[in-house]
Amino acid sequence: MLRAYSQYGPIFRVRALHLEYTIIAGLEANKFLAREGDRYLTVKKVYSGVATGLQSNNFILNHDGKKHRELRGILRRGYSKTAVIPSVPLIIRLTQEMARDWKKGERVFVVPALKRLITKQLGQVLLQYDPEGYFEDLQKFFTTTAETTVSNQLPEFVLKLPSFRHTQTRVFGLIDKVMAARAATPPDPARRTLIDDVLAAVDDQGQPYPPDLLRAAIIGTYIAGIDTVALTCSFAVYALLKHPNVWERVVAEVRPIFQRTSNPTMEDLKEMKVLHAALLENFRYYPVGPGAPRTAAEDFEFGGYRIAKGSNVLVGTGVTHFQPQFFPDPFTFDIDRYLEPRHEQRQPNIFVPFTVGEHTCLGAGMAEIQVMATIAALVNELDLTLDPPNYEVRYKTAPSRGPKHDLAVRVQ
Ligand code: HEM
Repeated sequence: MLRAYSQYGPIFRVRALHLEYTIIAGLEANKFLAREGDRYLTVKKVYSGVATGLQSNNFILNHDGKKHRELRGILRRGYSKTAVIPSVPLIIRLTQEMARDWKKGERVFVVPALKRLITKQLGQVLLQYDPEGYFEDLQKFFTTTAETTVSNQLPEFVLKLPSFRHTQTRVFGLIDKVMAARAATPPDPARRTLIDDVLAAVDDQGQPYPPDLLRAAIIGTYIAGIDTVALTCSFAVYALLKHPNVWERVVAEVRPIFQRTSNPTMEDLKEMKVLHAALLENFRYYPVGPGAPRTAAEDFEFGGYRIAKGSNVLVGTGVTHFQPQFFPDPFTFDIDRYLEPRHEQRQPNIFVPFTVGEHTCLGAGMAEIQVMATIAALVNELDLTLDPPNYEVRYKTAPSRGPKHDLAVRVQ
């Protein structure tokens, strides 16, 4: 996108697989998404495969306008920073358990290990249930549904095939397990959870929502959270090890804090300014969602061109992350950008790892904390090296952007 942007400007067309996309990118495109995205762009076609897999008419990413705002209102608190802060010690403990399982001299593939960890964290933190035994099912459910209409790698009929039906039945069975566990332990009235909010929700007629809202919320948590958080953490492991000076600065900050307290909380995480800066740079340099896929809801103009209703549009939100007028020397991994006095992240519509506009990530606050706590615990537990030491990251782009599965570390 960057290369095409510098060649053709803020609007251009590409062919990918059998489809044509109009890409709009740069600051003006991000502003357009933020201010006019709800009017001119729709998510309906793009995320419909996921909604079909969920058999739900209440999947948040499949709605625009009023209905979307209603669903966002229901899920907001459950995914908020406030909801996750009390679970920081739990996130750290689960990460420590994983790290203590990695033996000295062992070679570990980072992406699958972190995907498993994040699946466990999301289940225990947000749904109060450990999805042990469902990891493969959740992965398959996510990739198959996302690869139909989000990245258009698969035809939609795969959602009707017996192999997907089997996965779907397994994943829906997880919902029964979550609800049975909840029934067995009476909810703590002092701590409302995502599920409490979903069960209590009523529509604009005052009627309770059908059960497909619960299905979309429970499975949607994994769909929205596993790859995004795990791939961000995987990039972070790579970036820290690739820049030994950054790794050393982070170690020098994090380890004394863990020595002081065996059970760090959010207050301790807040002291980790260097780690925070390193993770912001990781969000800039390695965005896992560098584009917002949409369909034109009506004809509109952008950059002097007319885009017809029904066109596939990709807003290349991440292009601004690499423009030198916003981030000097953009291809240098420089964590001091986010420290006094620079604070380059404070540029609206420019630093956008969670995109902008109506569909801005609802879990952004929670995700930042989850990534911080996970990487802090990992850095504290282990000395690692890339394996091989001169490894250069290779990317996969769909359905979410991340390092390829050959990213490996050696436990020292
Ligand atoms: C580093 C981690 C994460 C990144 C980079 C990320 C990124 C994004 C992006 C780019 C979108 C917008 C998609 C679009 O416009 O097409 C999005 C939406 C969303 N994210 Fe995240 N996400 C992360 C973690 C999470 C987590 C942990 C949750 C909750 C468990 C979550 C919940 C959501 C929800 C519910 C939406 C849909 C919002 C809406 O349609 O209004 N995300 N995320």
